[in-house]
Amino acid sequence: MSDVTQKHQQLATFIQNFRHHLHRHPELSNEEFKTTASIRAALEKYEIRVLDLPLKTGLVAEIGGIQPGEMVVLRADIDALPIEEKSGVEYTSQNPGVMHACGHDFHTSAALGAAILLKAQEDTLSGTVRILFQAAEETGHGASALIDTGALDKAAVIFGIHNDPSLPVGVLGSKDGALTAGVDRFAIAITGTGSHAARPHEGNDPIIIAGQVISALQTLIARNVPSAHNAVVSVTQIHSGSTWNVIPESAWLEGTVRTFNHDTRDLIERRLRQILAGIAAAFDTAISLDWQPGPPSVVNTAKWVDFALALGKDSGFDARRVEASPIGEDFAFYQQKLPGAFIMIGSGGPHALHHPQFRVDDRALFPTAHYLSQLAVQALRTLSAETTIRDKIA
Ligand code: NI
Repeated sequence: MSDVTQKHQQLATFIQNFRHHLHRHPELSNEEFKTTASIRAALEKYEIRVLDLPLKTGLVAEIGGIQPGEMVVLRADIDALPIEEKSGVEYTSQNPGVMHACGHDFHTSAALGAAILLKAQEDTLSGTVRILFQAAEETGHGASALIDTGALDKAAVIFGIHNDPSLPVGVLGSKDGALTAGVDRFAIAITGTGSHAARPHEGNDPIIIAGQVISALQTLIARNVPSAHNAVVSVTQIHSGSTWNVIPESAWLEGTVRTFNHDTRDLIERRLRQILAGIAAAFDTAISLDWQPGPPSVVNTAKWVDFALALGKDSGFDARRVEASPIGEDFAFYQQKLPGAFIMIGSGGPHALHHPQFRVDDRALFPTAHYLSQLAVQALRTLSAETTIRDKIA
């Protein structure tokens, strides 16, 4: 066995054990204290620099900077979800009601593996690599907190990954333009007037009004959004009333809107407000809207998608163009600052992300770590070749 193969096998075992450790001890968004400490300890073991940043949880590692060149950023997220694990794996969650059900333990361990692989070739890197171990992806605020530290100010390009259980191990995928959806959340409060169920004319029934709202919201997609643009409006909660013979005073609805471009997103919010105002007037009642914008759509840069897919092929993956997915991902905030690509990595399934039985196939881990390290190495080379050409032309 060659030295390289043996080293890679040792690293594969190390990051697999690391993932199982994280999986046993999942932590919710903004509470990833032990997770952050574990990542820091592993980085320190390999003498990898950690930047001194004002972050409560999460951290940024840095490698390179010995040779001149640009800065490339890799991003992993580290938080878990409030879900009771039922996956049946032997390294199941020891933290009741909390689970790595989105595979962020996989992303973190792959990024750690990439950091270690990059450290071994630090003096030959044509520039600097920063690796973001980002907190609080699930709440949609972690990316913005990291951007605010200024850690990406000098970066030229960013790459991120998410495991995809709908793709087999050995497959990776991406696409130009919108890859994930813009995610907005809405809550609607209807204030009616309660009355005896037998005397509805003396009240103003909020349940009837809620029914009108739900039906009207579905016309947003059917009659307002152009057929070439995808969008989803889902009402996911409705609460009203407490017994059979009383018309309640109020009703409350909650739901989400998923869109793939800014115009559709603005259109739906504007029409939603108009519909609610119209129904409120028609039923002589008050309807209030709490609109909470989440991350926008992940919008990939065509050049870096081509680069990432070609490199995927060279790294032994079946690299494909995939369709856009209506999930949300706060990686989108980085792409408002700099070009980049988000890549889906096959993790085997069969259960979907956020499912209590969700699991990741460990065989995907080391190839992903290696792929991430190569994304950084080759992107730095590409960027420095471009600089050389620019200098020659100038
Ligand atoms: Ni996720």
